[in-house]
Amino acid sequence: MNWTNWMRQVHRWTSLAFAVVVAAIFITQGMGRQPAEWVYFLPLFPLAILLATGLYMFVLPYLGRRHTAG
Ligand code: HEM
Repeated sequence: MNWTNWMRQVHRWTSLAFAVVVAAIFITQGMGRQPAEWVYFLPLFPLAILLATGLYMFVLPYLGRRHTAG
């Protein structure tokens, strides 16, 4: 698996983890409960990874296809 593919896979699976945590927070609130304060900061970790890998994928086309397989 090349570097770009690896970045895309990390982005894809991290996005799932991010979505699950955010959904869990909303569901908890929907049930009329407040999660602990630190729980609100949990999505920031996957979001940081998403930002880094997402920006990497974003700039790829402007790098002259040096890092792509095809
Ligand atoms: C934080 C800033 C983010 C940036 C800069 C970003 C950027 C990108 C870019 C450039 C792509 C590739 C699009 C293409 O194929 O040309 C992409 C794909 C994708 N992004 Fe993001 N993204 C971000 C956050 C997120 C978030 C929050 C989610 C969902 C929770 C997400 C889910 C996805 C998914 C599922 C794909 C497709 C991945 C694949 O091809 O398997 N991204 N993103």
